[in-house]
Amino acid sequence: MKKEKDSELMEKVVSLCKRRGFIYPSSEIYGGIAGFWDYGHYGSLLAYNIKDLWWKHFVDERSDNYAVTTPTIMPESVWKASGHLEGFSDPMVTCSKCKHNFRADQLNGDKKCPDCGSAFEKSTDFNLMFPVSIGAGEEGTTAYLRGELAQGMFVGFKNVLDTIYPDLPFGLAQIGRAYRNEISPRDFLFRVREFDLMEFEYFIRESEWQERFEMWKEEMWRWIERVGINRDMVHEFEIPEADRAHYSKRTIDFEFDYPFGRKELYGLAYRTDYDLKKHSAESGIDLAYTDKETGERFIPHVIEPSMGHGRTMLAVLLSAYREDEMNGEKRVYLALNKEVAPVRVAVFPLLKNKLELVAKAREVFQMFKKSIKNVQFDDNGNIGKRYRRQDEIGTPHCITIDFETLENDTVTLRDRDTGEQERVKIENLIEKLR
Ligand code: GAP
Repeated sequence: MKKEKDSELMEKVVSLCKRRGFIYPSSEIYGGIAGFWDYGHYGSLLAYNIKDLWWKHFVDERSDNYAVTTPTIMPESVWKASGHLEGFSDPMVTCSKCKHNFRADQLNGDKKCPDCGSAFEKSTDFNLMFPVSIGAGEEGTTAYLRGELAQGMFVGFKNVLDTIYPDLPFGLAQIGRAYRNEISPRDFLFRVREFDLMEFEYFIRESEWQERFEMWKEEMWRWIERVGINRDMVHEFEIPEADRAHYSKRTIDFEFDYPFGRKELYGLAYRTDYDLKKHSAESGIDLAYTDKETGERFIPHVIEPSMGHGRTMLAVLLSAYREDEMNGEKRVYLALNKEVAPVRVAVFPLLKNKLELVAKAREVFQMFKKSIKNVQFDDNGNIGKRYRRQDEIGTPHCITIDFETLENDTVTLRDRDTGEQERVKIENLIEKLR
């Protein structure tokens, strides 16, 4: 029963995303390609707002994290040194008849092909890195699309030390694309082949790793609540040593109760000095840090909070999806928080064909545009339909300009969650919404 309900929720969220212009399958007119998605207008706005809020939370509001932006393509030497060419793989089985490939660890012990019931013919380790060729013909060299952002922070570490002279502990933060040639992409945004990561490497002294690990665990919980993920659906999971990535001495996954099961949302890892040491050894360039007071030189250790942006979108959407009844009708809405909602406030003229209402509504809209992000003007369809449409995309407030506005400069301000409306003076609106 619960399973049916869960898969229903997933279908409803996927369908809302398509219907309301959040997310569509990519290259759909050519049949699509698994593991790639387009974000439409509202999906893009939600995506930007989540990134902005992440940046605010982990960089702007702190003084110990710095920004870097590194390429999505890096040379083979980087990925050899980092261990990705050797170890960044998943176990794969291939069906002897239909030749479909599956991740062996996701078959729940099933010994037969889920698609045709035949036996598997072989099992291999499939590397997830996407190779690309840089340059022309035989002069071309092999490089790879990045599977994680971290390597950009490690490889560029010396330039950061030599230019901004940061004191330990400090972090290098980045938001950007990552690519993984997943064997079986699935579950909407959960397992895709191209996605954004929001990640930072936090450089520390070895002696303080436990204390810093705890600090970042708490910060990640604060983020989870701030972005609007239901805290009760998130659980810490201590990854056993045998399952940890090759560079990690401790990893905690934050798992989310998705409709398809409890699975990873984010990771927090203690990467030790593994990466900087490897890159020092392989490049021949000393990546040690010098303590400004004592002159001591050493390779810093690293704590890494790593947060998938697509999984954040999915967890936010699943946490926000609501159905209720309003004015005797079934209603669907997204209870998104104000900081991430694609539209912060929508402004309507009560009637589209009354010029004086439209002009006043445009005036209010322009006033908002200058001081509030993501304001929308909407005069499409009757007022009830407009409310429903805004509810479905998660707009926290709607403002309606009616005939009374023309008399006393007040408007109705409607709250998405309760549907309640109050009259507010135009001059007090901005303060009220903040
Ligand atoms: N730098 C560490 C790192 O990349 P990871 O656990 O492999 O660690 C980090 O990935 C995060 O990226 C995950 O916690 C998850 O949020 C997201 N992620 C990983 N693979 C993904 C995929 N195929 N599709 C969507 N998100 C993914």
